[in-house]
Amino acid sequence: MAPYTPGEQINEEGWTKLNTNENPFPPSPAATDAAAAALEQLPLYPEPTSAELRAVAASRAGLSPDHAIAGNGSDDLLNLLVRTFSGADRPAGALDPSYSLYPVLAAANGSAWRDIPFREAFRLPVEDILASDCQLFFLTRPHAPSGVAFPLSEVAALAESLDGILVVDEAYGDFAADSALPLLREHPNLVVTRSLSKSAGLAGLRIGYALADPGIIALLDRIRDSYNLDRVAQAAGAAALRDEGYLEAIVGKIAYIRDFYAGEFAGLGWQVFPSQANFLFVEPRRADGTTGPEVAADLFAHLRAHRILVRRFPKHPLTRSCLRISVGDEEQMLRLWNTIRQWQENE
Ligand SMILES: Cc1ncc(COP(=O)(O)O)c(C=O)c1O
Repeated sequence: MAPYTPGEQINEEGWTKLNTNENPFPPSPAATDAAAAALEQLPLYPEPTSAELRAVAASRAGLSPDHAIAGNGSDDLLNLLVRTFSGADRPAGALDPSYSLYPVLAAANGSAWRDIPFREAFRLPVEDILASDCQLFFLTRPHAPSGVAFPLSEVAALAESLDGILVVDEAYGDFAADSALPLLREHPNLVVTRSLSKSAGLAGLRIGYALADPGIIALLDRIRDSYNLDRVAQAAGAAALRDEGYLEAIVGKIAYIRDFYAGEFAGLGWQVFPSQANFLFVEPRRADGTTGPEVAADLFAHLRAHRILVRRFPKHPLTRSCLRISVGDEEQMLRLWNTIRQWQENE
């Protein structure tokens, strides 16, 4: 099987890293204080169920703790979902393109896999998903790499009619105008996964959670690693989720910068997909009006030569003319903007 290819992680000084949708701002001071306190207790195993983190995550959604499970990043939960609900004769699937880890997890588990193509760029093909034989379907909302949030009414229709488990992957959910969480009460086959890597700025600690019917949570708990979150992650995660004011302020700042640059890129005549995430998916256009895979590759290379990293997805027809740019802070975005203008002027 082919492994997952993560985005490039460069740790050298001097790079502007806008390729893996990390948060440019620091996490809540309450989270770093809690992490520091947890470091005092390293000889002891952590609490096995991440009970406090589950309780905070569930209460944020107005649910009781038995609706929540915590993971070593939301990737851990996606993996548990694949292992619990799919197999050689129980196909899992997702839209193509979407988060490319899903089929890798399925392959590692020996699960059958179904790619569901888009009929129209980044419009949810509800009927095609329902017509497939997927018993586990991963819906990335906001979608990656486009940033588009499919209408909630369509997500509800899918949950209603899918003969299996619908996972709404809300890794970017805090940046969106709405969430599938309110649908949980009516749809016992729905699972919503969330990440603290993006909005909470804790990618380095690997923290995620899933919310679902207690019956589903109990199944996931059967095969979860007994100590899947370390002590530091549990403490920092719970503190970060409790500090709602900080989370809201950072998310608001990132959404503001995102929307400002969406307007700027559109002003250059680029196609900019309406993003509800912390990144922009754009089709760059040369000053002479040309677009296409070569243009995207050329801008990517120009940015890289100036130590700015963004992400390219050259393999798929819907993505190969585009670049995905994580929303950075004001200074990073200005550097990006000036480098793009220089690229345009040099032609
Ligand atoms: C759609 C999607 N889901 C899940 C993840 C993984 O998040 P985590 O860091 O919580 O494992 C990512 C990370 O990039 C993502 O893009």
